[in-house]
Amino acid sequence: MHDMEMKYIKEAFDTNWVAPLGANVDGFEADVEKYFGDGIHATALSAGTAAIHLAMRLIGVKPGDIVFGPSLTFAATVNPITYDGGVPVFIDSETETWNMDPEALEKAFEKYPDVKAVISADLYGTPAFNAQLEEICQKHGVPYIEDAAEAMGSKEPDAEGNLKNTGSFGVCGILSFNGNKIITTSGGGMLISHDEELVKKARFLATQAREPERYYQHKEIGFNYRMSNIVAGIGRGQMVYLDSHVEAKRLIRERYKKAFADIPEITLNPYREGTLPNFWLTCMTLSEDSRVKPYDIMDALAAEDIETRPIWKPMHLQPVFADNDFIQVAEGISVSEDIYNRGLCLPSDIKNTDEDMDRIIGIVRGLFGK
Ligand SMILES: Cc1ncc(COP(=O)(O)O)c(C=O)c1O
Repeated sequence: MHDMEMKYIKEAFDTNWVAPLGANVDGFEADVEKYFGDGIHATALSAGTAAIHLAMRLIGVKPGDIVFGPSLTFAATVNPITYDGGVPVFIDSETETWNMDPEALEKAFEKYPDVKAVISADLYGTPAFNAQLEEICQKHGVPYIEDAAEAMGSKEPDAEGNLKNTGSFGVCGILSFNGNKIITTSGGGMLISHDEELVKKARFLATQAREPERYYQHKEIGFNYRMSNIVAGIGRGQMVYLDSHVEAKRLIRERYKKAFADIPEITLNPYREGTLPNFWLTCMTLSEDSRVKPYDIMDALAAEDIETRPIWKPMHLQPVFADNDFIQVAEGISVSEDIYNRGLCLPSDIKNTDEDMDRIIGIVRGLFGK
């Protein structure tokens, strides 16, 4: 938190517009639309997960419909597929960004030509091959949803090579303002799209699907998924700092890169040349032959009261999805499982001081005898 967040919260209190909706919700949506530009429309919601559910509802996912999702992601990318009875089929990652593999996606289309939708994520802030994934989906006439919950502020080239904001590919994009994200509202999300009608429909469904009549009229089932005016005030205040957060994350990444340059066992999470990730989390993988394992690093840091996180455990390995199919390009251990086995997320908080970073780096280097 900085200082602008409280200004907008105070405005909500002073005008007694604490809920529902109000000037902060409108202002936050307008700020995000302006940041994305390119004709993007946005609707502020209670969570990124709610936005993904609305996307599934708007596409018309029905019981038994197959929806492709990434295996290597947080469960919130794919859980909402099931809310209306959809069946996730998981797609493996490629090694260049750790996100959905276009080749595996093509393979999945061969097996499931009647698939209803595709959702992919931009893990740890690293843009997926979104232009390519979207093109494949367009070729098959299937809507593509981009879960950019972790990637607000990242940029990547579109099919023509022009730099675009990550989150603006596909029929709609998803943003999250959960506590740990690049900007936060404490909790919240957005559905964004070039399609104004789609965004209006999402807003309508998120407001109990109340028809615009003088009395309470409902023709469809709706949800209570809108963001409150207090929460949106935090978002308005945070938007001012989005680019500086990205820059601070980039410096954290640079620092780790330099610090581990002489340790061949360590590789930082990769990204494509020509893309500008927001470096939400700096992650690493350890080489197969590394004597030091991810849990050794996690334990050594934990002993000094420093928190790390494992890489997301792939969805196709989760007990809850034991019956769901998984598509990978080559036989043997999947790319997603391999990253999971050999990886971990390093402390990446922008509040880390120089001394904090030196301590973390010193502990990790020490494990490698440096
Ligand atoms: C990849 C991904 N998708 C979706 C979500 C869900 O967002 P929210 O927590 O706002 O519901 C998150 C984060 O929580 C996430 O990391």
